[in-house]
Amino acid sequence: MAHNVARLAALAVGAICLGGAAQAAELNLICSADIEVCGKMVQNFEASHKDIHVNSVRLSAGEAYAKIRAEARNPQADLWWSGSGDAHLQAAEDKLTMVYKSPHLDQLKPWAQKQAKISGYRTVGVYAGVLGWGYNTKIFDEKHIKAPKCWADLLDPSLKGEIQIADPNSSGTAYTALATLVQLMGEDKAFDYLHKLGSNVSQYTKSGSAPIKAAARGEAGLGIVFQHDAVTEKVQGFPIAIVSPCEGTGYEVGSMSIIDGAQNLKTAKVFYEWALSAKAQNMMPAAGSYQIPSNKDATTSDKAPRLDDVKLIDYDFAKYGSGKMREHLLSRWTREIGNGS
Ligand code: F6P
Repeated sequence: MAHNVARLAALAVGAICLGGAAQAAELNLICSADIEVCGKMVQNFEASHKDIHVNSVRLSAGEAYAKIRAEARNPQADLWWSGSGDAHLQAAEDKLTMVYKSPHLDQLKPWAQKQAKISGYRTVGVYAGVLGWGYNTKIFDEKHIKAPKCWADLLDPSLKGEIQIADPNSSGTAYTALATLVQLMGEDKAFDYLHKLGSNVSQYTKSGSAPIKAAARGEAGLGIVFQHDAVTEKVQGFPIAIVSPCEGTGYEVGSMSIIDGAQNLKTAKVFYEWALSAKAQNMMPAAGSYQIPSNKDATTSDKAPRLDDVKLIDYDFAKYGSGKMREHLLSRWTREIGNGS
């Protein structure tokens, strides 16, 4: 009898420990940066936080938003690290993410703090990246295609079937492109442009960086992407040239948000603070990621395309990250471009 009681007590202690450990040491992360960077970020985090195990899933920004919304009553994810900020702002507006003000907020660059402010402190900027495109110089040379310098040049018939861009419903990159064109041209002209561009597009991919990976490997001529994703391919030795469109271009504020009702809030905050630190952000280039880091003390890689070096539009994140605008533009895109082209 005494033996059984002791065994039960031991089992109970074990269960509490296991329960406690599982609660304290798990982190369910949605990662919306490049899949390889996601893997390396998690690896680096776990190496310096040996008591925390991260379960990570890579989803493009639109997919991540849809998952978080679908799970609102029973959140499965704790933290959403990065991906273009518009979808984070929509999640903030829907109160799917939690108000959290990092004690290190003042160590971030103004655009990263502004992202936090316009979301009511439900998200924060972790990096910035400039939109543009990359093309395969070998293919362009072989086919005698003139290098496109401006958005208008992408409509040239010589580019028929050569262009890839992602679907803005899934991809934050492609939504940034859609919102950029609307801000540059006005909505109707932008949709007219996208309709014409459709004749040159061979594929609307799910993830934002897929078009430049395809171009690098000769499966497409040109990918409309964030320029840093083109840099990633170029530094690997692929024949890629990178363009900032002459009319001007938009940019992303890659963001991070804690899910409202997160089951592992404590570990989510540990990752959150780590991801804002200069130390963590300095690891990004070694992980093959060349965005501009948000921490003032982090080093911007000399390979990173800079905001100051391009003709940048004054991207209205509050407007184009609002649920009303995102839903409107995405449903129009699906109707007129995705289904209609
Ligand atoms: O590959 C990195 C990256 O371009 C990020 O800078 C960006 O936030 C994210 O991927 C966008 O991915 P997607 O377009 O698939 O949402």
